[in-house]
Amino acid sequence: MQEKIIILDFGSQTTQLIGRRVRELNTYCEILPYNKFPFGDESVIGVILSGSPFSVYDEKAFKVDLTEIRKHFPVLGICYGAQFMAFSSGGSVEPAPSREYGRAHLSWIAPEDPLFKGIEVGSQVWMSHGDTITSVPAGFVTVASTDSVTNAAYKIEGEPTWGVQFHPEVYHSTDGVKLLSNFVKDICHSKCDWDAESFIETTVAALREQLGDDKVVLGLSGGVDSSVAAVLLNRAIGKNLTCIFVDHGMLRKNEFNDVMRDYEGLGLNVIGVDASKKFFSELAGVTDPEKKRKIIGKGFVDVFDEEAHKLTDVKWLAQGTIYPDCIESLSITGTTIKSHHNVGGLPEKMNLKLCEPLRLLFKDEVRAVGRQLGMPERLISRHPFPGPGLAVRILGDITPEKVAVLQEADAIFINGLREWGLYDKVWQAGVILLPVQSVGVMGDERTYERAVALRAVTSTDAMTADWAHLPYDFMAKVSNDIINKVRGVNRVCYDISSKPPATIEWE
Ligand code: XMP
Repeated sequence: MQEKIIILDFGSQTTQLIGRRVRELNTYCEILPYNKFPFGDESVIGVILSGSPFSVYDEKAFKVDLTEIRKHFPVLGICYGAQFMAFSSGGSVEPAPSREYGRAHLSWIAPEDPLFKGIEVGSQVWMSHGDTITSVPAGFVTVASTDSVTNAAYKIEGEPTWGVQFHPEVYHSTDGVKLLSNFVKDICHSKCDWDAESFIETTVAALREQLGDDKVVLGLSGGVDSSVAAVLLNRAIGKNLTCIFVDHGMLRKNEFNDVMRDYEGLGLNVIGVDASKKFFSELAGVTDPEKKRKIIGKGFVDVFDEEAHKLTDVKWLAQGTIYPDCIESLSITGTTIKSHHNVGGLPEKMNLKLCEPLRLLFKDEVRAVGRQLGMPERLISRHPFPGPGLAVRILGDITPEKVAVLQEADAIFINGLREWGLYDKVWQAGVILLPVQSVGVMGDERTYERAVALRAVTSTDAMTADWAHLPYDFMAKVSNDIINKVRGVNRVCYDISSKPPATIEWE
C-alpha cells in the first residue's frame, strides 16, 4: 500500500507548495478540502493543516472537528492551521500589533524538540498572517519564538501534534524543508520511497488491472502531459492503446511531422489527422478571441470523436490531466470548484470511461516520469503551447497565409532561443502577428508591411509571469533574421508586460 500524508486545505495560496515539498521528500501526499478527511484509509501516516485567507474570527472561516484526526495521526498545523488548533482548544488568537509579514528569525527553540531537530536559533522563517497566537491553551507548550512572536511554534503535550505560525513550505523559510523533513520522516515515519520509478511500477500494474484487455483511445497534443500519459499507457497495455493527434493547422512550423516522428519512435500507435482545411474554413472571418477558442475546441472534439468511432470496441478515453487540474480548490466563499478537463466536453460526448494516469502528479513529476520512461528531452522540456495554437497569436481574422508568415517568424525566434542556450531559461516564448501595418524601407523601396511582437516570459506556473530579460545581441539577431527572411514583416517589437496585469497570450 502506498503510504501517504494528507494535506487538509483551508484555502491558502501555498497549499500546493506544501504538497510539492512533501513529494520532494519522496513521500506521496494528497491535498483534500479541509472537511474531507478520508477516515478509514489505512495508508495515511500523517496530516498537515494548511494556512487560510481567513482569520479564525471570520464568520466564514473554515472550521472542522480535529479530535478524531489528532487521536490517530501526527498533525502539523501551518499558519491558520496552527492558529485554528490553538483557538479551538481555548487559546487566544489576536490581530498582531504589528502585522508580521515576511522575514523573521527564530530567537528561541526548545531543546531537543524533534520538529526542530538540526535547526538553529537565528534561522529565517517566513510569516504571512495578520493574526498571532497570544496565549496557548492548557496542554500546549511553546517550542519556538521569534523576536516579536512568542508562540511561533507549539507542541501539544502527549501527542505528536505541532503548530507553526510561519510557512515552512516557502523558499524564504531557510530551514523549512528540514522542518518538513523532520515531520515527514521522523515523526510520521515515512519510508520515503515515492519516486518516478516507483510511480511507473505501481501505475503500470494498476493500469493493467484497471483496463484488462479493454481498448483505450487518447488525444495527443504534442505537449508533455498527453505524451507522457501515452507512453505510460503504452507500457501498460501496448497495442490496445490508440492515440489520435489532430492537426488543426495552427501548430508551429513542421510541428505535426516532427512530433509524429517522435511518437512513432516511441513505439506509439498513432493516427495523425490533418484537419486544417476544416478549421481554416470554420475560422474564416472570425476575429473574436473567445469565438476562435470555441470553434477550435468544438472542432477538435468533433474530429476526435469521428476518428475514435472508426475504431472498434473502445471503452476508455485517456487524458493527460495532471494534479493541479484535479485539486478541488476552495474558493473564498467556501464552495468547491471542481477540476477542469484538458479536452472540454470530450468525455461527456463520447460516453467512454475516463482514464487519467497522471492525475496524481505535479508538472515537474510528469517530466521526471517522462525521463524515466526514456522519452526524448525535446518532448519532455517543451514550452507550454496553448491548445488553440497560433490562432490566439494572430490578432484579427485567420488565413492560411497569415499562419504561414507567423510560423516562419516563430521558428526563427524559437530556434534562436535554442541556439543561444536560452530556450530552457524561459517558461514560454512565441511570436504574435499584429493587425498593424507600418512603413519601412528596404533597399530603395518603401514597404508597408506587417509588424510582429516577440513574447518571452519567465514563470513557475503561468499564474504570474515576468517578461524575459533576453540579451540585446540575441534580440538584434532575431529581429534582423525575421525582417530579412520572413516576407511580409518589416517591424519587430518586444513585449515587456508582466502578468498581471497583462496575460501571457495576447488573446
Ligand atoms: P494566459 O494568456 O492566460 O496564459 O496568461 C496562461 C497559460 O495558459 C496557456 N493558454 C492556453 N492553453 N488553451 C490552452 O490549452 C487556451 O485556450 C489557452 N490560453 C492560454 C498559455 O499559453 C499560458 O501557458
